Amino acid sequence: MTTPLSVIILAAGKGTRMQSAKPKVLQTLAGKSLLGHVLDTCQKLTIDETIIVHGFGGEQVKSEITNQYTQSSITWVAQTEQLGTGHAVKVTLSDLPTSGQSLILYGDVPLVSGQTLAALKTANTDGMSMLTLTVDNPFGLGRIKRDQAGNIEAIVEQKDVSNDEQNIKEINSGIYCVDNALLHKYLPELSNNNAQQEYYLTDIVKMAVADGITIAAIEPEHTFEIEGVNNRQQLASLERTWQRKLVADLQEAGVQFADPTRVDIRGTLTAGQDVFIDVGVVFEGNCTLGDNVYIEAGCVIKNSQLGNACHIKPYCVIDRAEVGAGVDVGPFAHLRPETVLSDNSKVGNFVEIKKSTIGQGSKVNHLSYVGDATVGAGVNIGAGVITCNYDGANKSQTIIEDNAFIGSNASLVAPVTIGETATVAAGSVITKNVDAKALAFGRARQTQKDDFQRPTKK
Ligand code: UD1
Ligand code: CA
Repeated sequence: MTTPLSVIILAAGKGTRMQSAKPKVLQTLAGKSLLGHVLDTCQKLTIDETIIVHGFGGEQVKSEITNQYTQSSITWVAQTEQLGTGHAVKVTLSDLPTSGQSLILYGDVPLVSGQTLAALKTANTDGMSMLTLTVDNPFGLGRIKRDQAGNIEAIVEQKDVSNDEQNIKEINSGIYCVDNALLHKYLPELSNNNAQQEYYLTDIVKMAVADGITIAAIEPEHTFEIEGVNNRQQLASLERTWQRKLVADLQEAGVQFADPTRVDIRGTLTAGQDVFIDVGVVFEGNCTLGDNVYIEAGCVIKNSQLGNACHIKPYCVIDRAEVGAGVDVGPFAHLRPETVLSDNSKVGNFVEIKKSTIGQGSKVNHLSYVGDATVGAGVNIGAGVITCNYDGANKSQTIIEDNAFIGSNASLVAPVTIGETATVAAGSVITKNVDAKALAFGRARQTQKDDFQRPTKK
């Protein structure tokens, strides 16, 4: 049987240095809250209980996270006064089982990996393991004191270090895996007799050592895993580090970036081989790209799937759309939610498409609005065509059947159906269905006055 695992996430700090009305753990990195990153990582492990210690802006944190994580059951524990990390864990004791183990994480250390946490859990054989790292500049962080044999003896906080201890380069990440029995035993015994008059969680290390417990230490694969966010500079720098990592993973999968530093992935991007992504492209949510997809500069692509060899020209906005293979989009096109572009179709510049399907090989090349429409295969929609889908109260459907031709600047007043191979004359306002193969005019007949005299200035 595996030992039950709880996760305790400390998220009570105010984050004064962010200079924000928003609690720190709700600030976003790669489009997701810092706390959200930690919760998502925890979902990669088998967790029996998640406890979040909240304080500053607690209700806001609770409501935002509860709305986003409807599946997970979270125990919220309020720490009304921030008396230190030890105190923060102590307030969870009444909700913490007396057996099993707990991972102690921070809401403002967003990028710790599931792999590292799994290793930390396995390393906890004698009651406690911790994540440490040897760094060039340890200033500000707790130092790991080891005895002659190399065993961990204690953690000394920056404000309490002696001159000798100051030179220790191995630091405490603040992330641990501890047996619950030890937390129940040690936390009530903590004192705040130190330079900051705080209850230090780190003091449980010397208590465990005094009980003859060996503390296991492991290092994370990446330094960014233990980096915390205290100000906007650190947030921006961690964002860039994370973006570089996401880009590197995609490069390994065969994606070419014009400039790996000028792309943003705010979510999950899955891509096939020989994909090209130009500068200034932003991906949000879950996006999937087939092989040979070519995306030009400045596009924003959100929760969408792009098929093999489609070509997105500069400055397109694509939101919740499905784009088939060999499709050309843009420049400057806007695909709104529930747009489906079938294989080899074409959507050109200044075209907006909403909740519509465009059939195979059909073209909407210039300056059109197509909304709530079903467009068949081989259709040509001329420049400036508008589907008038809204009467001020209700939305109606436009159906354009295979191989129809819609002349430029036509308005199709929905609900309306244009039959197969029908033609709509340019400039028409179409309010009635058009039969298959017919030609429909819906415009004033042209008249002419010969030898017209233009007015002259008086
Ligand atoms: C802590 C560690 C230090 C380690 C460092 C790594 C202690 C005493 N020190 O120091 O050894 O090197 O993290 O970043 O643990 N929090 C609460 N309630 C509190 C106090 C803190 O929820 O009463 C939360 C904060 O919101 C933050 C986290 O705990 O997310 C860490 O607190 P912080 O004050 O930043 O700890 P450090 O002093 O940096
Ligand atoms: Ca502190």
